[in-house]
Amino acid sequence: MHVIERKVQTLLQAMTLAEKIGQMTQLNAEVGVADSAIKQRVRDGMLGSVLNLVDGPRATELQRIALHESRLGIPLLIGRDVIHGFQTVMPIPLGQAATWNADLVRAGARCAAEEAAQCGVNWTFAPMIDIARDPRWGRIAESLGEDPVLASVLGAAMVAGFQGDDPAVPGSIAACAKHFVGYGEAESGRDYATTNVPENELRNVHLQPFHAAVQAGVLSLMTSFSDIDGVPATANRKLLDDILRKEWGFDGLVVSDWDSIRQLAVHGLTDGDRGSAFEAATAGVDMEMQGDAYFNHLHALVEDGVVAESVIDRAAGNILRVKMRLGLFERAADTLPKSSASVSQHALDVARQSALQSLVLLKNDNGCLPLSAESLTSLAVIGPLADDAYEQLGTWIFDGDPARSMTPLAAMQALVGDAVAIHACRGLRDTRSGDQSGFEAALETASICDATVLFLGEESILSGEAHSRADITLPGAQADLIHRLQALGKPLVVVILAGRPLALSNIVDDVDGLLYAWHPGSMGGPAIADVLFGVESPSGKLPVSFPRVLGQVPIYYNHKHGGKPPTPETWVHMDDFPARAPQTSLGMTAFHMDVHYTPLFPFGHGLSYAKFVYSDLQIEPNAPTMDDAISISVSLQNNGEVTADEVAQLYVRDLVGNVTRPVRELKTWQRMQLEPGESRRVHFKLSIDDLSFCGRELRRIVEPGEFHVWVGGSSTASLHGEFRLREAPTEKT
Ligand code: BGC
Repeated sequence: MHVIERKVQTLLQAMTLAEKIGQMTQLNAEVGVADSAIKQRVRDGMLGSVLNLVDGPRATELQRIALHESRLGIPLLIGRDVIHGFQTVMPIPLGQAATWNADLVRAGARCAAEEAAQCGVNWTFAPMIDIARDPRWGRIAESLGEDPVLASVLGAAMVAGFQGDDPAVPGSIAACAKHFVGYGEAESGRDYATTNVPENELRNVHLQPFHAAVQAGVLSLMTSFSDIDGVPATANRKLLDDILRKEWGFDGLVVSDWDSIRQLAVHGLTDGDRGSAFEAATAGVDMEMQGDAYFNHLHALVEDGVVAESVIDRAAGNILRVKMRLGLFERAADTLPKSSASVSQHALDVARQSALQSLVLLKNDNGCLPLSAESLTSLAVIGPLADDAYEQLGTWIFDGDPARSMTPLAAMQALVGDAVAIHACRGLRDTRSGDQSGFEAALETASICDATVLFLGEESILSGEAHSRADITLPGAQADLIHRLQALGKPLVVVILAGRPLALSNIVDDVDGLLYAWHPGSMGGPAIADVLFGVESPSGKLPVSFPRVLGQVPIYYNHKHGGKPPTPETWVHMDDFPARAPQTSLGMTAFHMDVHYTPLFPFGHGLSYAKFVYSDLQIEPNAPTMDDAISISVSLQNNGEVTADEVAQLYVRDLVGNVTRPVRELKTWQRMQLEPGESRRVHFKLSIDDLSFCGRELRRIVEPGEFHVWVGGSSTASLHGEFRLREAPTEKT
């Protein structure tokens, strides 16, 4: 038996039932429970974890009590939502996903872990790897977007960053993949609402990133608040036991979401806390976050013979195993003198690089960008988000320090110095304001300048947990401000800071340039300034489709083909057919007649200041067998005049399946930098496993047959090839 396993079993044997149940409980150390009460629970060996304690000296004291004053000396897990940075803030996860850069995502998580660890945190509730296809859902900000492969790769990178090569080394903290599972499918994008995901879809889409996180060694998982096909995730044996433990072999810790065990009664699954404790414990939830259903009822449930003690042993064992893997028995005794993390230049550099690569240039008419400090003499910088050190940080920044932020306005001023006269003006009090009294000053400012950059979007609080919107256009009078400024006839660039894809059809034609900055974090300002002035070329690519209007939602690139797919030839706008047209006038395919069936901006889209041209797609072998790896290569040339990064993306369609297959699926990608005029052969490899999917029998299969391949700079790439996968092994001659 492995040494950790032996220690877990030895410790379990020494523990009383009450101590084991104590390990299965967690309390909020921030508010509500007096410090002395927490200390007593720790001293009594009746608490496994606290959350929201971010103070080195306090953490040191609690760990000292746990190690030296409790009977068995078991250290505490100290949890915190360290979601996209700690005091130095990286872009929101959706922005980080737009970098398509696993190394950078990993580096960001590492910086966050190192800062958080300085304050005693040893467990973060991240990454959130719920597939998010609904921009109404406020938590889309916290997600890695709509694609299972992108979310798998970047989620695993976050796990690697938080936990490091060895979770037991100082600076590493345990990661927690959440929310298991299907949470992003909340009906109408309303946080916490019911989800209904058929098992095939669950396995082909939503479970994939979790499986990848488990394979990456994630130490913990969190259950989702929502019910899925009628069974709340927190009581879902099929998910927690059959799939997670038995199929995937996960032996880490499963924590409930905040009070989600007691909420089983609110769902109507149980009639009270006792029943909820029973359901959650027997389904496989090891630790209860915040509530007290376990603490109050598990003991009696075991004594009454309703819950087997082996259930408690398993749960407590999972918790102890994680504490041992984290090396807490050895390092929890370290003295942590600080109440806040020190500023590191490295973390600021990573935050800046991450913000830079997250910026997605959506539109650039007539080369209005980059702005040129040589040809401009004056620039109007307008909008409520141009100079707001707090709002650029985004949701989930409990510990984020706005004093570390550099705003776009400050960064632009620092970059251009005296070369361009920058005239700043707010225009609107905030993004939600309908008050147009600031418009006059904004118009005046714009009219005396050569060009305008307008910083709009959503404040941080308009996305994130429980902050869903039913209308996803720019709030307040922002669209009016755009229309008024556009009427001046001067170059108008809009930079949007937001936690979700907004529906931008009502403004897109009025702007010359459109840069999507998400909430870019501490160093968003310099990153934006560098892109606006062409110090760097934008290179972010959308991790999620942008709808034209809300009515298209859900709209995602990897949808099914359907039996009556729309085509450019069949699509007709309702203004274009006469009254009393026959019932079949619209060609009988799947579209809305008042809006085009494509998104405004597709998944994977993002413009560059360079001009990338893809050609000559080769597939080797072009009739592979199940034993072959498939090599796909293309030529990529930078025909532009600047050095820039490109993210080359490879998509596949499996033409015939025993269940219907998506029209395209991202399989792999590469980010690379090309000099002007440089041409390069880009090589991709596909394994047979990359072509597998969950079939009708709910098992992963690979079927022989025809596959189509596309490589290019977005999910609408047109460079195309085909191969036929054969069953029989190639005959060797
Ligand atoms: C959220 C979790 C979070 C937890 C602790 C819950 O409300 O859903 O994602 O980790 O609170 O703050």
